Amino acid sequence: MDLLVVGGSGFLGQEVTRQARLAGDRVVATFHSHALPIAGVDWRALDIRRRDDVAALVDETRPAVVINVAFRQTDWAATADGGMHVAAAAAAVGARLVYVSSDAVFSGAAVRYDETCSPDPTTPYGAAKAAAETAIKGLDPTAIIARTSLIIGDGGSPHEKVVHALASGAKTGALFTDDVRCPVHVTDLASALSELARSSYCGIQHVAGADAVSRYELGVLIARRDGLDETVLPTGRRANTGLPGPVDVRLDCAKTQSRLTTRLRGARTFLAPASG
Ligand SMILES: NC(=O)c1ccc[n+]([C@@H]2O[C@H](COP(=O)([O-])OP(=O)(O)OC[C@H]3O[C@@H](n4cnc5c(N)ncnc54)[C@H](OP(=O)(O)O)[C@@H]3O)[C@@H](O)[C@H]2O)c1
Repeated sequence: MDLLVVGGSGFLGQEVTRQARLAGDRVVATFHSHALPIAGVDWRALDIRRRDDVAALVDETRPAVVINVAFRQTDWAATADGGMHVAAAAAAVGARLVYVSSDAVFSGAAVRYDETCSPDPTTPYGAAKAAAETAIKGLDPTAIIARTSLIIGDGGSPHEKVVHALASGAKTGALFTDDVRCPVHVTDLASALSELARSSYCGIQHVAGADAVSRYELGVLIARRDGLDETVLPTGRRANTGLPGPVDVRLDCAKTQSRLTTRLRGARTFLAPASG
């Protein structure tokens, strides 16, 4: 498969790129501020805010599939306009598009959300992802829009780094006991995206982990896996902070999971300490 990974230098993009190379795909991957030393990948600098640059790259490389994982949380133009630019460019060459969205499109008012639920974002980031979703649906109704939740790895994600910094005292703060998500392992997510790219499904898919856990429980699970002292992890309640954004958002992934051979493991499973 000829694949273009937009945002290949990011945490999820690296894993999508790595798995695609292992599968023997020809991979072009983009970076914005730094390329990565993944062998056999054609790295291209790209700013997805620049519509003409996106169109030119896609026109030149002519991928069969585009997986877009690029975003910048505080940059509407990168997240919303950029998502639209990539979709327009993919549609122009007839490439299949897989766009990664977020549970941040939901307010948390309903707590549990399946693929039929409409976005009701409460933050600029959630609104930008929802705007990109709408643009993509309009430009290409056959595109996959894969909403996910906190992405965890084997030590490399920002969420894991925060737990280590809190445990060592390098950082102050709190892990909220009321802030609930469905974390997913980055290898499961990348594998699911690849499956969806190769499928004939279209539209919204929910691709998160099977367990709903609080940020605090997630921290404890990471601490146990990594041999950290879980008793020093500071706790708090998000509801008491006045921080904007959803508190409890659980993606119901049953429908999408039924379409996949990749198992979307829950955090209690993929963070369980290795036995022996
Ligand atoms: N991380 C999570 O817990 C989480 C949760 C829910 C949904 N998501 C979604 O999952 C996707 C991947 O997240 P991630 O954690 O892997 O993100 P990440 O590590 O922050 O990577 C973001 C990628 O976007 C690129 N990028 C940023 N601004 C750009 C621009 N203007 N033009 C082109 N590329 C740009 C970055 O390039 P450089 O690094 O080279 O600058 C990087 O490759 C995102 O769509 C995000 O909304 C993530």
